Amino acid sequence: MVLPSGSGHAPPDDGVGIGDMENGTSSPATDGRAARTAVPVRLPEQSEAIDQDAEYCSVLLEGRWQTVRFHDYDRIFSVPGLYETLFHDLLDCRSPDVVGALLTEELRRDGVAASALRVLDLGAGNGLVAQRLRTVGAGHVVGVDILAEARQAALRDRAEVYDDYHVLDMTGLSDSEVELLRGYRFNALACVAALGYGDIPVRAFATAFNFVSDGGWVAFTIKDRFLSETDESGFARLVRRCEERGLLRVRASRRYRHRLDVRGEPLHYVAVVGIKQADIGADLLD
Ligand SMILES: C[S@@+](CC[C@H](N)C(=O)[O-])C[C@H]1O[C@@H](n2cnc3c(N)ncnc32)[C@H](O)[C@@H]1O
Repeated sequence: MVLPSGSGHAPPDDGVGIGDMENGTSSPATDGRAARTAVPVRLPEQSEAIDQDAEYCSVLLEGRWQTVRFHDYDRIFSVPGLYETLFHDLLDCRSPDVVGALLTEELRRDGVAASALRVLDLGAGNGLVAQRLRTVGAGHVVGVDILAEARQAALRDRAEVYDDYHVLDMTGLSDSEVELLRGYRFNALACVAALGYGDIPVRAFATAFNFVSDGGWVAFTIKDRFLSETDESGFARLVRRCEERGLLRVRASRRYRHRLDVRGEPLHYVAVVGIKQADIGADLLD
């Protein structure tokens, strides 16, 4: 585990039940976010635990209940409001808010104005993290995602939150894509709910990390298991080595309830905010 001694290790907040397992009514905007369409979604009667990447639900689409896997992001982003209805309204996802708050605390501690941030939002999805970063005051935000459907959804639902948004595979950038990303002179990286599980691999995260200038901010969330002794995703080793070699100075980390699973049980992640000190070399990725 990479938690620095003395860092805020918030008690997991497990006390919220899942409530109604079916949604399909209104979705009022009570938090200053844009009002949106609620999509009828049913969660399965699931008594046995299944891992997050196998979870699914039923969605009423074109008059027919259809099975949609949670990790079929292309399908989910194609339906306006479905991502928000499923993950945020029904399953109470907190990750964008938690990482936004943790980053804000650390910026304040250092007297850094959020408006100075030039953020690479990796695994940007439909823009909820960028929206949170904008409420914090981030000056410049560029989204990157591997899916064209994510970009389309972000431009459809939150056109105002990105300065630019690129569909890119960080594991295989062309020379022109490298030049493009270098041109932004990022001084912050955000990567929320997108590491591991066949999503963003270690190598892609390292590539994104290296686009951030030394002294820049790095804020990410990751499932607690992927930072544990038993981790097989490679992230625990990467983060540990980054700390040992002084490439990342972890400023704060917090274990928190990312969201509920389909049974209403909590899924815990760790949010980490740190300051990049130097690039991750290829030797760390072997
Ligand atoms: C759970 S969503 C999180 C979206 C957003 N960060 C949020 O918190 O709302 C995970 C996102 O990671 C993206 N993703 C998965 N693998 C990726 C990769 N190799 N490179 C870039 N994005 C990737 C997916 O397309 C999806 O948009």
